[in-house]
Amino acid sequence: MSAYKALETRLEKSPKCWVVTGAAGFIGSHLVEKLLRLGQQVVGLDSFATGYRANLDAVRASVGEQCWADFRFVEADITDPQACASVAQGADFILHQAALGSVPRSLEDPVTTNRANVDGFLNMLVAARDAGVSRFVYAASSSTYGDHPGLPKVEDRIGRPRSPYAVTKYVNELYAQVFASSYGMDCIGLRYFNVFGPRQDPNGAYAAVIPRWFGELCRGDVPRINGDGETSRDFCYVDNAVQANLLAATVDDAQACNKVYNVAVGDRTTLNELFAAIRTLLAGSNPELASVEAVHGETRAGDVRHSQADISRARELLGYAPSHTVHQGLAETCRWFLQERQE
Ligand SMILES: NC(=O)c1ccc[n+]([C@@H]2O[C@H](COP(=O)([O-])OP(=O)(O)OC[C@H]3O[C@@H](n4cnc5c(N)ncnc54)[C@H](O)[C@@H]3O)[C@@H](O)[C@H]2O)c1
Repeated sequence: MSAYKALETRLEKSPKCWVVTGAAGFIGSHLVEKLLRLGQQVVGLDSFATGYRANLDAVRASVGEQCWADFRFVEADITDPQACASVAQGADFILHQAALGSVPRSLEDPVTTNRANVDGFLNMLVAARDAGVSRFVYAASSSTYGDHPGLPKVEDRIGRPRSPYAVTKYVNELYAQVFASSYGMDCIGLRYFNVFGPRQDPNGAYAAVIPRWFGELCRGDVPRINGDGETSRDFCYVDNAVQANLLAATVDDAQACNKVYNVAVGDRTTLNELFAAIRTLLAGSNPELASVEAVHGETRAGDVRHSQADISRARELLGYAPSHTVHQGLAETCRWFLQERQE
């Protein structure tokens, strides 16, 4: 039996109390959904800065009223220390997802990004310490590899940050290390690599590439590829990220604690390949899309050329085994987009 399957069985038998910050966001809402399905008690916190009530409504519809009764939602901002303290009370585990994502957003407004991602992070960390939670798992980022040229990316070899967003995510790691050594906390950072899937926001200036292209192609708009399209990423389906969170929160091995882990598939897809894959999937239901060509624009400031994770640390210490390849994840995401359009 896989480590994840065994964990699911264990949690079902002995439910725990979880806090998910950023619960109304993309990844946070998937964490809430999975935990409720496993019969866990879940407290979600979100300010709706970039998240949506509709994401929580979708979780409710998906898990049903019986599971939904185990969910409590708190609308609050993590820059408010009291709100952080109040949600942390009584929690076994905290999965801290709330932050302002997007490299371009942070370049345009570094102060607001820092407030949520650093001040807010520190408030949650203090709240977790004071409440004596068993483990604090937080969303770190592959952007921490910065300008390090090595491929695949190995956790202990990082370069200099290339954006304010990357600085904030690295500062999170530093604070988590210091709280572990100074206060004996158990923290685990998950460096997500381009997570995608249902409920990821396709709209707005800071939308990630996969939902943006699905949305544009569905609407009949022409997608734009930044640069020559040979930039590559280790795109990671959201179920893989959910798995990593649950394993990280509950792993018993002391060697596994107070580390950061790459969360990805360990594969690399160029933007040109990605565009072709999305177009082919959508052309399955609308053949006219098969001939759509993307236009190429400027390379984006702050972007690194290639990114691919070495996921052996997560495999060995957490028992992480990605359930979805990029193509399986894109197929699930496509199904969701098509269904959304019908509703
Ligand atoms: N999606 C990715 O590819 C990716 C990659 C690396 C890291 N991450 C990190 O994963 C986490 C989740 O990202 P996501 O893709 O689900 O983004 P998202 O924007 O969908 O979710 C973030 C959630 O946090 C909430 N939030 C933001 N600021 C807040 C504040 N001050 N107080 C309370 N809530 C606040 C937002 O309203 C939103 O619901 C973030 O920390 C992000 O930096 C994501």
